[in-house]
Amino acid sequence: MKLKNARRLRGTVLVPGDKSISHRAIMFGAISEGTTEITNFLQGADCLSTIACFRNMGISIENKNGCILVHGKGLHGLSEPGGCLDVGNSGTTARLISGILAGQSFASSLTGDASIQKRPMKRILVPLSEMGADVSSQNGNGCAPLLFHPAKLHGVSYSSPVASAQVKSCILLAGLYADGMTSVTEPALSRNHTELMLSAFGADIKKDGAAVSVLPEPHLKGLKVEVPGDISSAAYFIAAGLLAQDAEILIQNVGVNPTRDGILKVICAMGGQVSKLNERIVSGEPVCDLLVTSSQLKGTTIEGDLIPSLIDEIPMIAVLAAFAEGVTKIKDAAELQVKESNRIHTVTENLRRMGANVTPAEDGMVICGSRSLLHGAEFDSYMDHRIAMAFAVAALALHEPCCMKDAECVNISYPSFYSDMEKLFCE
Ligand code: S3P
Repeated sequence: MKLKNARRLRGTVLVPGDKSISHRAIMFGAISEGTTEITNFLQGADCLSTIACFRNMGISIENKNGCILVHGKGLHGLSEPGGCLDVGNSGTTARLISGILAGQSFASSLTGDASIQKRPMKRILVPLSEMGADVSSQNGNGCAPLLFHPAKLHGVSYSSPVASAQVKSCILLAGLYADGMTSVTEPALSRNHTELMLSAFGADIKKDGAAVSVLPEPHLKGLKVEVPGDISSAAYFIAAGLLAQDAEILIQNVGVNPTRDGILKVICAMGGQVSKLNERIVSGEPVCDLLVTSSQLKGTTIEGDLIPSLIDEIPMIAVLAAFAEGVTKIKDAAELQVKESNRIHTVTENLRRMGANVTPAEDGMVICGSRSLLHGAEFDSYMDHRIAMAFAVAALALHEPCCMKDAECVNISYPSFYSDMEKLFCE
């Protein structure tokens, strides 16, 4: 795909619903009693994989005119799937659904695309086995396909070696089917949508310092869930606005949960102008509108506890760093290696193609920013939606011909990304 350049950006954008919250609303609705009505659901391929998996386990899910109705059957109402569950490209589906499958009275299996079959599942197999689950990696390599057989689950106190909301959520969901309290501690706080939403559905969730615990066999009841706009999708419009020569963009209805808003803190440290307007709470999640204007950026250091709150935004932040003046250091982010692509490699590769000075490391990268080094490039998305969107934004600001291999993979989280961006072009 040929990528467009743009010097002037003006207008308003409404980014699609949050991916993490959309997945959870389907899953929690399916194991609750009664109907869950979801508005502003993300109709991206990953969330549609979650719908398909639960339909395959006997849950009726209507998806009409932007509104989803999940007809839940309660904690023990799922039925044996007809064949292997296919999670597509979705790590969230794979890891969260595993917590539910481990507690069922039927056998099941799950797999996904080539990327999913390389992503580490040992991080959930270890705690699930500790809980007594009968779960294994079919090929013995710690990856999908995963096989589940019925087993009695026990409550555990698990200290996760990684700050991962997918791991934490998997264990908490398995904990709903255990014989006592289950608690999880993580090295830094990851996104807390599971805790917030499961509690709203009626689960007994407690937070005690760094630990989150859940009691088994709750009476979960269907809910209305209004999904806020995804800050991870808003990130591309924020960056486009900051980098354009002349921009003023209003991004409406963006979820700004403090476990997800690290990008706003980094942009502030880089000197970017983004202001929060109309702050409110929607379905238990903080939401606001973001006003972005063109800015001169400077380098910064991103590390430690901040990393889980912006892990999916690092490709976009790395692009901003290439345009900023000075050095940006990204540390403590080894998790980038095990995302939809190895994002340390795929970001480094694409930054180098556009002339940026980047040194990769095991846990991040160092970028010596300078606009004058940068030029047009042929990018490769490596079939990773976030790489495609981050470098499409780089192309906007490069003012030289650019193109992208496998640009259509944005369908995973943002099917209308390119057309929404074009609506802001003013020349
Ligand atoms: C997600 C958690 C994060 C994030 C992913 C979505 C979630 O993954 O990168 O895009 O919805 O729980 P990890 O839990 O592996 O950090």
